[in-house]
Amino acid sequence: MAEHSPHSPPAHSDALVIFGISGDLAFKKIFPALYAMVKNGALSVPVIGVAASDWTREQLHQQARKSLQEETGMDDPAVCERLLALLFYVHGDYRAAETFSAIKAALKNAQRPAYYLAIPPSLFTVVIQGLQSAGLTEQARIIVEKPFGRDLASAQELSRIAQSAFAENAIFRIDHYLGKEALMNLLYFRFANSFFEPLWNRDNIASVEITLAESFGIEERGAFYETAGCLRDVVENHMLQIVALLAMEPPAFQGFKAVQQAKANVFYAMRALVPGDLVRGQYIGYRNEPHVASDSDVETFCALRLWIDSWRWHGVPWFLRSGKKLANTAAEVRVHLKPPPQRLFDDADAHRTQANYVRFRLSPDPAIALATRVKCAGESFVGQQRELYLSEISLGHDLPYERLLGDAMEGDATLFSNQEAVEAAWAVVNPVLTDHAPALPYPPGSWGPPEADALIAACGGWHNPEAPAPAPAPAPPPPRATP
Ligand code: BG6
Repeated sequence: MAEHSPHSPPAHSDALVIFGISGDLAFKKIFPALYAMVKNGALSVPVIGVAASDWTREQLHQQARKSLQEETGMDDPAVCERLLALLFYVHGDYRAAETFSAIKAALKNAQRPAYYLAIPPSLFTVVIQGLQSAGLTEQARIIVEKPFGRDLASAQELSRIAQSAFAENAIFRIDHYLGKEALMNLLYFRFANSFFEPLWNRDNIASVEITLAESFGIEERGAFYETAGCLRDVVENHMLQIVALLAMEPPAFQGFKAVQQAKANVFYAMRALVPGDLVRGQYIGYRNEPHVASDSDVETFCALRLWIDSWRWHGVPWFLRSGKKLANTAAEVRVHLKPPPQRLFDDADAHRTQANYVRFRLSPDPAIALATRVKCAGESFVGQQRELYLSEISLGHDLPYERLLGDAMEGDATLFSNQEAVEAAWAVVNPVLTDHAPALPYPPGSWGPPEADALIAACGGWHNPEAPAPAPAPAPPPPRATP
């Protein structure tokens, strides 16, 4: 869907500078993405990692190797060596001019670097200004991690600062969910199939439910999490992006501009949240995590009800839920259809509680299922609800950062948010960022505080996504042939 003028393809970035290379995000997602890019021939320019840690280049390489072994099982040591040959290190304080002089020296002859800010949002402005003061922004691109700002006002201010240093088409607001195959498939599946569209509206849909659950806690990210919480960390961005893909009107024409506009229109039509729409929770033990305040009220769980006041969605509640240390790790959407209007069969009551639904399993093991009722054998007209798998999707390897970093370095903004959409999404959550009830405790391994159930009770309660199927046991070795 990308739109580039055939006459002036954007120039490829000739270096990648990653701020925050010693952090958790780099370890878990970025090194594996760089490895995959080298493997696929998408990365052959120098990569300069920047962080405050007083490491040598060799120590950075050790960190990269460790990440690749733990996160990817690194299957090709030669690719790893090719990546390490590209990987350089600059350490220093992001507030010090010398750090940027050292980056300039490390960039050597690069003319069009891409800077990726994999750092806490509180440092975005400092780094952008440091780059600007060092004269490093001309012809460069900047890739900014989510959350873009802390609220609507700071997102606008950050945008102003970024735009003072970079052209708007050189600013890439990254949300790695937009690079996930399962999310791209929401867009594709909705608009590549004609049977869906006539059903996809308030006449047929009773409610929509989205769960993004994680069984792990905040791990080493206490300092970041204390400044963010679940609302800023995943709801304002990842979850609202999922809502936008499900709720948007068909793009008016082929091209990412039309998709961006259709998604922004969903955010414009959303009612701003009020405190009664939101239940915040905090897992028991969170306050004992490193770098977390002993009286912290930061939420590690959110359940909320959204309304989209558009012609298509008027009156349909959207329920969103996400949390850390929940019962399992899975992301799933359920679109509940209305039951048939007539009571024709003996089991008509069950049609109300077990109406048709469409289930999009986003991760792990993406799938799309349609729950239907089918008659059971016998004299009476009684049936059961069975899922019809419309698709069991094999998405192969899915490394969103590989796709997104590669796209940004090529100047392709298709899978990035624009400022309009970012601001419209902040406007939805802005009122409840500060005006909310205290976070309620919940035990690790549960589905959050019981108060979250009341939000959705009238629509049949939450449907907890099943845990991923256990990995198949390794096949026994073949019997040895006896000579
Ligand atoms: C990140 C959040 O953006 O997304 C994390 O900061 C969260 O808190 C992660 O765990 C989830 O991403 P994924 O791709 O593992 O579902």
